[in-house]
Amino acid sequence: MGSRKIPRSFVQELLSQVDIVDIISRYINLKQVGRNFSALCPFHPEKTPSFVVSPEKQIFKCFGCGVGGNAITFVEKYENISFYEAVKRVAEIAGIEVPVSDGEEELEEIEEFGYKAAKFFYSHIGEISDYLAERRIDEKTAEKFLLGYAPKGYGKELGIPVKAAKELGLISRGGKEFFAERLIIPIFSHNGKVIAFAGRVLKGSEEPKYINSPESSLFKKSRTLYGFYQSRDRILKERKVLIVEGYFDVISLHRSGVDFSVAPMGTSLTENHVKIVKRYTQTPLLMFDGDKAGRKAVVRSAGLFLKEGIESLVVPVPEGEDPDSLARKDPELLKNLVNKPVLFLDWLLGLSKELNESELKELLEQSAPFLVQLRISNPFLYNDYLSKLRAEFGIEEEWLKLHSPLVGKREGEKEETLPVPPYEKVFLKTVVEKGELPPIDLSPNIFLSKEVAKVYTFIKEVGERDLFTIQAEYPEVAPLLSEIVLMDTTEEEEKAALCRVLKKELERRLRKEKDLHDKVELKKAIIRLSRGEIDAVKTLKV
Ligand code: UTP
Ligand code: MN
Repeated sequence: MGSRKIPRSFVQELLSQVDIVDIISRYINLKQVGRNFSALCPFHPEKTPSFVVSPEKQIFKCFGCGVGGNAITFVEKYENISFYEAVKRVAEIAGIEVPVSDGEEELEEIEEFGYKAAKFFYSHIGEISDYLAERRIDEKTAEKFLLGYAPKGYGKELGIPVKAAKELGLISRGGKEFFAERLIIPIFSHNGKVIAFAGRVLKGSEEPKYINSPESSLFKKSRTLYGFYQSRDRILKERKVLIVEGYFDVISLHRSGVDFSVAPMGTSLTENHVKIVKRYTQTPLLMFDGDKAGRKAVVRSAGLFLKEGIESLVVPVPEGEDPDSLARKDPELLKNLVNKPVLFLDWLLGLSKELNESELKELLEQSAPFLVQLRISNPFLYNDYLSKLRAEFGIEEEWLKLHSPLVGKREGEKEETLPVPPYEKVFLKTVVEKGELPPIDLSPNIFLSKEVAKVYTFIKEVGERDLFTIQAEYPEVAPLLSEIVLMDTTEEEEKAALCRVLKKELERRLRKEKDLHDKVELKKAIIRLSRGEIDAVKTLKV
């Protein structure tokens, strides 16, 4: 399936033509401090600047939160767009044209067809005017979200190639029109391309209430938040994001002026959504239905943020209402509630007055595993939480642990990233900067850091040590790369790091070696390496 590929050489050329200081200055205020520039980090809250930009090295790094990278990755993170989009944005700023490959043209076409299809459905909006009126959706809002209607037979009338209609999930392979006679909700990517569709039933029927396009090369649910594009300006300006559950909650809230509302689609919030939101705000707002299921969703979502060390704010919804119904029935109350959100823990504590014993217990137990993880991600908040929980419910740390049997072992969850040992950083620095691979082949398994292993393997196998190329391949290693490049190391340290890495490799080989003679050879070499004699490996025949 065509993924967006930009020639590597172009990325390098682009980076060589732009100045990172120029690019970043477009977004935040930089102050010159000696050879570098500094600023308050835009990616985490802070009072003293720990965000540094190095014009010499053309990279940025925050020593507070650890983010780092080059001009492109900065734009990618700041605007929360894909690497590909960020390349385009930086090229645009520099006035350089991005070469297109065939696969990419095809994708751009599909996006165009998505928009065309959405416009077609929108042109039939008249057929659902009663429905929209009933739901208090005015014309302006309908246009903002490009809502529409899919008449029977739309497959032929859309005027887009069958292949594109299939890719967008509008028709099946056999030509079945999934969305016929439904209200159409186009799904926009975060930068405004129509990449998928949702369709709501209009009449009571047994069919599912919503159908959604399946995921495609363009549409990934965990990367998309419904309403983000329409909320973007407000989110960027005010750094606040309100998370709700449904399409119509988003639409209705926007209609009421709460136009920084987003929702996941057909799934609950994922860790990836949380990472996206986290780039824009440190105080996400959660607003779910005022019922038991809604409260559980709050705990679950707040938990995902706690894992990232972030405390969410809850906008409480009166029992029996949802954000959409509240926006229609009592816009005043809605505004008051949105303007006075409650810290998650205070919300949880407050529930003790409203809920019966058993539901409260259930919610607390559900929170426990997330609270335990807070101990690592945000120890201050953890202690604060613990003392409040102790005072209110007599909950102790042991209780939290008891109810967190799965912490760190959940299926599909990302393992915690361990700190990279300093000698691995130094080792990688020499490989990256000097282009010297060690005299013997290393197994990636000897590295404690997965990131170091990845970068080392890439350099070894692809024979490419250009930082930007590596970052393009593994965006997640960008902070590590900027850090090692900014590090000052002495030759001595570099030699010691290399010895240590080589020693680990030999120890690995020793464990597998059967031949007695070779074992002795390895042991001798290991001892010599401990003394700092790198040459020990050169004479090795094992
Ligand atoms: P809701 O049923 O709460 O949706 O489901 P809603 O947006 O409030 O719908 P209205 O107000 O009845 O029109 C929440 C979300 O779950 C997904 C959709 O993303 C929906 O917005 N969902 C729900 C589905 O994908 N399929 C379904 O059949 C139902
Ligand atoms: Mn609803």
